[in-house]
Amino acid sequence: MTSPNLIVVASEAARAAGREIVELLQHKRDVRSKGWRDLVTDGDLASQDILVGIIRDRFPDHAILSEELPPPTAPATITWVLDPIDGTSNYARGFPTFAVSVGVVDGDGLLCGAVYDPLLDHLFTAERGGGARLNGEPLSVSTVVATADAIVGLDFARAPEARAELMRRVSQYAPHIHTFRTIGSAALGLCYVAKGWLEAYFHATLAPWDSAAGVLVVREAGGIVTDLDGAPWAYGHPRCLASNGLVHDALIQMGRAGSAA
Ligand code: 2AM
Ligand code: CA
Repeated sequence: MTSPNLIVVASEAARAAGREIVELLQHKRDVRSKGWRDLVTDGDLASQDILVGIIRDRFPDHAILSEELPPPTAPATITWVLDPIDGTSNYARGFPTFAVSVGVVDGDGLLCGAVYDPLLDHLFTAERGGGARLNGEPLSVSTVVATADAIVGLDFARAPEARAELMRRVSQYAPHIHTFRTIGSAALGLCYVAKGWLEAYFHATLAPWDSAAGVLVVREAGGIVTDLDGAPWAYGHPRCLASNGLVHDALIQMGRAGSAA
């Protein structure tokens, strides 16, 4: 188990930032483009300020990697990996699915994480070796074995070639599964696997802040995470397939089939 302080502070920071972005949603958002198909709002920046303020106050020696900040330059034993709003495209138009994601990594990888959906007051947390929780209640992945019963989540990359790959996998999985869901927040998609609301979730272009907390939540809920072809996933890897473990091999096999059945 890790120091309780880390997960307590991660949870407190995610909740505080989440409250702020919901408050800001009452008013018209300031939305800017920071790249092709890539938005930033005043909510992202306000959330980041709150997260960074709390973390720097409690852990001044730790490094912070956050979506809207330059990457840290000084080495540190512990790095906080922050997504001030995961699901910015949703948030920018008031589509009610987005989250604040707070991960913590050390030299051995993911250490703890908190993903907070402020509209539903869902706080997903996990500590390495300490299990996963939703609002304090233990989480475990679904027991669905048959791919015919599986609901598989995904979200779309921005780059055309990555989108094409995701679409190819959609057509490979489609004949064999129950259905798909797209969410708009990878952090929440991963937590939905941990909660058993989805059997699997995949993406091809995740940034470290999209996946850090959510992957730990899935793993600690008993799920498994690999790259899209079944190779080991390590912190920061952009290509990710998370599942309840029971449908994992079948999805990998479908992805190798080359074309839709
Ligand atoms: P964002 O909301 O922080 O931008 C939607 O596809 C989900 O995947 C969101 O979690 C989004 O994060 C993330 N995402 C999509 N394309 C991405 C990319 N090229 N790099 C990083 N994150 C991406
Ligand atoms: Ca994100």
